Amino acid sequence: MTRHAATSRKPRSRAGRTIEPARLRGIVLLLAAVAGIVLSVPSRAAYPPAVRGVGGAVASAAQDATTAGIEMLGRGGNAVDAAVATALVLAVVHPEAGNLGGGGFAVVRMDGRVYTLDFRETAPAAATSGMFLDRKGRPVAERSLVGPLAAGVPGSPAGLWTLHHRFGKLPWPTVVAPAMWLARDGFVVSERLARDLEASRDLLARFPETAAVWLPGGTPPAAGTLIRLPELAALLEAYSKDGPNAITGGPAGAAIELASRRHGGVLRAADLAAFRPVWRNPVRFAAWGWEVASMDLPSSGGILLGESAGMLQRLHWERLPRFGARADHLLVEAWRRAYADRFLLGDPLTCPVNAGQLLSPAWLDRRARSIDPARATPSEQVGPWPGAPSGESRQTTHLSTADAQGNVVSLTTTLNGLFGCGLMVPGVGIFLNNEMDDFAAAPGQPNQFGLIQGKANAVAPGRRMLSSMSPTVAWKNGQVIALGSPGGSRIPTATLQALLNFIVYDDGLQAAVDRPRLHHQWQPDRIDAEPDALAPETADALRRMGHRIRIVPRLGRVNAVRVLPDSRVEAAADPRGPGFARVVAIGRSPR
Ligand code: GLY
Repeated sequence: MTRHAATSRKPRSRAGRTIEPARLRGIVLLLAAVAGIVLSVPSRAAYPPAVRGVGGAVASAAQDATTAGIEMLGRGGNAVDAAVATALVLAVVHPEAGNLGGGGFAVVRMDGRVYTLDFRETAPAAATSGMFLDRKGRPVAERSLVGPLAAGVPGSPAGLWTLHHRFGKLPWPTVVAPAMWLARDGFVVSERLARDLEASRDLLARFPETAAVWLPGGTPPAAGTLIRLPELAALLEAYSKDGPNAITGGPAGAAIELASRRHGGVLRAADLAAFRPVWRNPVRFAAWGWEVASMDLPSSGGILLGESAGMLQRLHWERLPRFGARADHLLVEAWRRAYADRFLLGDPLTCPVNAGQLLSPAWLDRRARSIDPARATPSEQVGPWPGAPSGESRQTTHLSTADAQGNVVSLTTTLNGLFGCGLMVPGVGIFLNNEMDDFAAAPGQPNQFGLIQGKANAVAPGRRMLSSMSPTVAWKNGQVIALGSPGGSRIPTATLQALLNFIVYDDGLQAAVDRPRLHHQWQPDRIDAEPDALAPETADALRRMGHRIRIVPRLGRVNAVRVLPDSRVEAAADPRGPGFARVVAIGRSPR
């Protein structure tokens, strides 16, 4: 038996209520003051509860994907079986981001221990530092974004297989089957997919191979259309029999090389064969009594979370009134410094600094001390590093799973851009990523967003490009949560705010995910705020402190699960979604 929560709700105010017009709020406050009432904002009651059960939980960006994960749990699989099946279905029904032609990261907490898997793409062997520059040494955005020259070596085929191989309980073909059957028998095009196809029509039309599938007759399929992907189904069938070599070697590897050559790419079959996922040590830190583990380099995500939390704890952020300008100011100032440090980061093989240095007490003390509690520090005064990457993205997707034994998986995958580089490889049926754009095409010079990254993230053969993906788990006293988000550079701030809502303010899981969010990434020097995130008086106070504020439609899409001390589980999908959270009522009863 399952319970299902499809989320299309509008995020509410950070204060836990649907934002009313300012005038109405003023009247309410006035009446309360007159009546001598202390207004205490109902932090839980105003939000719906997360779905809750006893056998396992899945939250992902697509209903079919969440259902596949739940099916694995129902068959006796664990959180890893559920996560891999969910990710593979996302590669079929959410081709904008779910993938076998991209990469990602997974954080697993299994039997009380944490493991992190890096299956981030690498630069092909023929990549060069100047490959995305014009004759004058300026980055040419088109080259690192469109077509297979923009593609890093896909890591998902080996990554998902490796994850399952180490921890999965169910046979590999069982875990691949839901994706294979959906590709073979068909799935219904969602409204989001129809919208994204329409938005990407020009990109998809650049490649006849892609257009033949996704723009039949020149038009994307409408929402509600049943679509079959027989090439992808055949690939998944081979993958279920032979593992990653079915995608990265043999005829599929040759087809990928051919498509890459035809469109001017440097990706070769030898690159595909050489790719290896890497088990890494997690970034670990303590936050308000919780243990937190997240992804280390080549993702900046864990370091950004750890640095921000470290500064905030030093400044006793939790003592400030929630939703007030002083608390928001400190949050922003901590992010400003953490993102400035991001400039130093890149592939751990060549990066000059590491998590240990940036999370050392001495560095966190120094960074925290530099924060003025009353004034915004202009970003150009925060270290010598003038840049960090930007951009909201629907091309990354996050899923979280939990099983009846309390194990959790937090897994984020990406193609980088919507439908990656736009090329769907004929005969293979997968989109290639455009992850090369996550490198600093020209270190020290602005990229197409006007932003600058460091030498540690320059293009080099075999190197992994710096990411912001932040799959995270946290635990305390028998409780465990797993969470993460898509959203490019906004991933760490979205993930951190959901985590803070939960561990500092004791929000319910759904409220922690739902509450409106802020973002700051050092450069550009401004706060991005969701429409309901700041009360007018808070925004005014922040401006008086020297902050610039821009309203943006949404910041990230967090999908989270939680294991309670009595073994019940919860799942919460982000209302910014679509996201789908389900629990399955199997396994042992709550203690
Ligand atoms: N492609 C987005 C990221 O890895 O951060």
